Amino acid sequence: MMKTVHTIEALRKEIHQQRSKGKRIGFAPTMGNLHEGHITLIKEGLKQSDVMVSSVFVNPTQFGEGEDFSDYPRTLPQDQEKLSAAGCHLLFAPAVDEMYPEDQDTWAKVVVTEVTSRHCGASRPGHFDGVSTVVTKLFNIVQPDVALFGKKDFQQLAVIRRMTTALCFDIEIIGVDTVREDNGLAMSSRNGFLSADEKHRAATLYQCLCQAKKDIQNGNTDFESIRTRSNHTLQQAGFEPDYFTICRADDLERAGPNDHKLVILAAARMGKARLIDNIDFSRG
Ligand code: PAJ
Repeated sequence: MMKTVHTIEALRKEIHQQRSKGKRIGFAPTMGNLHEGHITLIKEGLKQSDVMVSSVFVNPTQFGEGEDFSDYPRTLPQDQEKLSAAGCHLLFAPAVDEMYPEDQDTWAKVVVTEVTSRHCGASRPGHFDGVSTVVTKLFNIVQPDVALFGKKDFQQLAVIRRMTTALCFDIEIIGVDTVREDNGLAMSSRNGFLSADEKHRAATLYQCLCQAKKDIQNGNTDFESIRTRSNHTLQQAGFEPDYFTICRADDLERAGPNDHKLVILAAARMGKARLIDNIDFSRG
């Protein structure tokens, strides 16, 4: 039976009990509206730990002005059912006031430099500061042995890895493969903003990533033309492309023809939804 707690104090008490029994704690933070992508984090976490903790918190500090904070789907009862069915032991579902009492969001923040400067960091100023700050708070509250994040948010995973190393969190970070719909579309809480027709057309994002990977693996090093063609294909499918960038997988800087471990990062708007996806691979 999964237990849900809403306060930091209650969560700490539960975790203290488990830790004093020598249990290894796993943690997968989320913003809720859970789908199969989130659930694989729990399943993977159960293989790596004795007690699996998750959180559902729509973190206001990682949303910019005019973004979808107020529209973001909040479905706690369904989320509880899904987590419980997956075998999660403990859920932390705090209110905004519990995480940021009064004006505490203005007292301190965690800033991860460099790896945040491009891609979503450039398109969404302040977004990764909000993510690194809330994840730090959650890490300090839960103090997990292992934490799981999806590769779907590739830049976010890089931010968390760098933060964990640079700030000496004694936590093993595990990246979990992206779970997709049958048509290849990466599962996302934001897919709920799409009509059936948009969802169908949105599959083009992953198709473009796969095609670009294929071209590069076949020896095409004209990254600029691959990028221009992909943006054109996305536009034809009804997307408004934000970025489509062939990067080095380790530092997310723009790749050159001599780089071998690559990731293509893409973001594009379809109707009301801003979707992101990526594909990582080795060349040669
Ligand atoms: P959220 O978007 O709810 O995602 C929670 C976790 O689920 C993240 O690690 C994300 O990468 C992973 N995830 C989402 N879709 C996935 C998919 N299709 N396949 C595999 N994993 C997937 O990311 C956040 O919340 C927040 O920024 C958070 C880290 C919780 C901080 O507020």
